[in-house]
Amino acid sequence: SHIPVIAIDGPTASGKGTVAHKVADKLGFHFLDSGSLYRLTALSAIRRGADLHDEHAIAKLAEHLQVSFVGGEILMASEHVTQAIRAEEVGNLASKIAALPTVRHALTGLQLGFRKAPGLVADGRDMGTVIFPNAQLKVFLTASVEARAQRRYKQLIDKGFSANIKDLLSDLQARDDRDTHRAIAPLVPAEGAHFLDTSHMTADEAIEQVLKWYAQLK
Ligand code: C5P
Repeated sequence: SHIPVIAIDGPTASGKGTVAHKVADKLGFHFLDSGSLYRLTALSAIRRGADLHDEHAIAKLAEHLQVSFVGGEILMASEHVTQAIRAEEVGNLASKIAALPTVRHALTGLQLGFRKAPGLVADGRDMGTVIFPNAQLKVFLTASVEARAQRRYKQLIDKGFSANIKDLLSDLQARDDRDTHRAIAPLVPAEGAHFLDTSHMTADEAIEQVLKWYAQLK
């Protein structure tokens, strides 16, 4: 497609969400937080008491997500779930169900639909490798596990959740391990991706770098 896509992939709590969102704002592009779709599926499974070992039941939930994105707010069947999907419990379940091929398949069409004029910034794990392999710009955004644990801690506390650094570190490591080693759409840098290690960078510096790479394309 000729509609430009900037694919930003990286591990959990690397700051890619903030960077992707702000880059989209600056360029006036649409924004896809693909992780939110896995989180919504997980929340839906929890809410409905779905059997977590029944892959097809979970895929059905994914296929029938009634989700809308309204000015930074996320609604599921008209309920505001922007905060609820950020809970660690939901994130951990999201990373488990994200390993299911039927779930990934069920969410593919929804993601492709975000590619609309004038352009899209998509963040996730497989944006540049699987969903938008022909993206004009691919970025692999990382940070050390310690830096990410600190950021996640601050995020959770700011949002009124309780948190503890030691638990966050081991959760992050477990999630990295699952995301990197799963058989389907593992977290790996896309071919031709620009690497951006943000461990010692501010969000603004990372945003500037991505915008600079994008400007250099033309
Ligand atoms: O990015 P976020 O932490 O919100 O994603 C939640 C989980 O969803 C991740 O741990 C990952 O397992 C999964 N995910 C994925 N593919 C994506 C985005 C997220 O597998 N494109």
